[in-house]
Amino acid sequence: MPRHYRTSVSLMAAVVLVAVTGCTNPLPTGDLPAFREAPAFRNGRGCAAAPTIHVAMTLDATYLRGSLAGVLSILKHTSCPENVTFHFVAVSPFHDLGLTVAAAFPSLPFRIYRFDDALVRGKISSSVRRALDQPLNYARIYLADLLPRAVRRVIYFDSDLVVVDDVARLWGIELGPYVLGAPEYCHANFTAYFTDRFWSDPDFPHALDGRARRPCYFNTGVMVMDLEKWRAGVYTRRLEGWMEVQKKVARIYELGSLPPFLLVFAGEVKGVEHRWNQHGLGGDNVEGLCRDLHPGPVSLLHWSGKGKPWLRLDAGRPCQLDGLWEPYDLLLRRRDQSPFAVDV
Ligand SMILES: *[C@@H]1O[C@H](CO)[C@@H](O)[C@H](O)[C@H]1NC(C)=O
Ligand SMILES: *[C@@H]1O[C@H](CO)[C@@H](O)[C@H](O)[C@H]1NC(C)=O
Repeated sequence: MPRHYRTSVSLMAAVVLVAVTGCTNPLPTGDLPAFREAPAFRNGRGCAAAPTIHVAMTLDATYLRGSLAGVLSILKHTSCPENVTFHFVAVSPFHDLGLTVAAAFPSLPFRIYRFDDALVRGKISSSVRRALDQPLNYARIYLADLLPRAVRRVIYFDSDLVVVDDVARLWGIELGPYVLGAPEYCHANFTAYFTDRFWSDPDFPHALDGRARRPCYFNTGVMVMDLEKWRAGVYTRRLEGWMEVQKKVARIYELGSLPPFLLVFAGEVKGVEHRWNQHGLGGDNVEGLCRDLHPGPVSLLHWSGKGKPWLRLDAGRPCQLDGLWEPYDLLLRRRDQSPFAVDV
């Protein structure tokens, strides 16, 4: 297996850079938009015995606004925010993305890892949606290699979601014998995630034989991952194996990184309450379609699908639920930067 780069921007280095360039002005970060500084979140009572919660997300120029909103939402709703450590995976502009995070969250403990997109580029076959074909979309497959061995569990979050509950509750779930925890959706038509070519093959469908339970769809945008079990079971290699089948042998699915996850884990994930992934708020692949919440309580809102709340808000055509994302938006608008800006 190729070795992965691991680079970290230590918190102290980031803080020093912020001090040198001046706290009040947005940092010069190339073509990236400017963000305002989030309020500092401090631990409440009873955090001395709290565990460190490890959260992994990706960072790129396109979804940066979403990633920062996600971070803010997590810190805002957890009772021990100083005990949450972030692991960001990025391709480029690697350094500037780190500076932007440090400027928005000056006391946030985080590390940023360089993802070698060449590692995965040759394994991606084009899907129905170009956004799904970005190498960084596959970074979640490599977390066990990228993160330090000492990190034994991580929560992976997509960059188009906000958490509106204490992330410690999700962190604390028992995984039992399983490698992954995620909400499962057994009413979704599992057959439809794979092509006829897959189902008619004499061998491929047998990959799903012998699962603990009936294989069901789960969304890979929110996953609790046991990295020790992942490493021991060489799951990265297993997922890559299906990507190679798709690329070199037969077109067995139409979506991006999701189907390999289903092939390897479906029927053997620890079911998590649905409240932890109210997904689909982006509205599928049909533009302009607003989706409603699934019935039941909400701990996490996820704008999976084509539409993103920040794009619809900017365009002045938001869906109703996009208003729930807006309070976490840290984007510094030009109006805010103007010396003549007036609050109205
Ligand atoms: C969580 O933060 C508290 C400070 O409020 C600290 O005493 C404790 O050691 C931290 N927990 C871990 C596991 O680092
Ligand atoms: C599930 O999807 C498959 C393939 O798209 C289709 O043939 C089948 O009729 C669907 N089943 C149900 C119950 O909708």
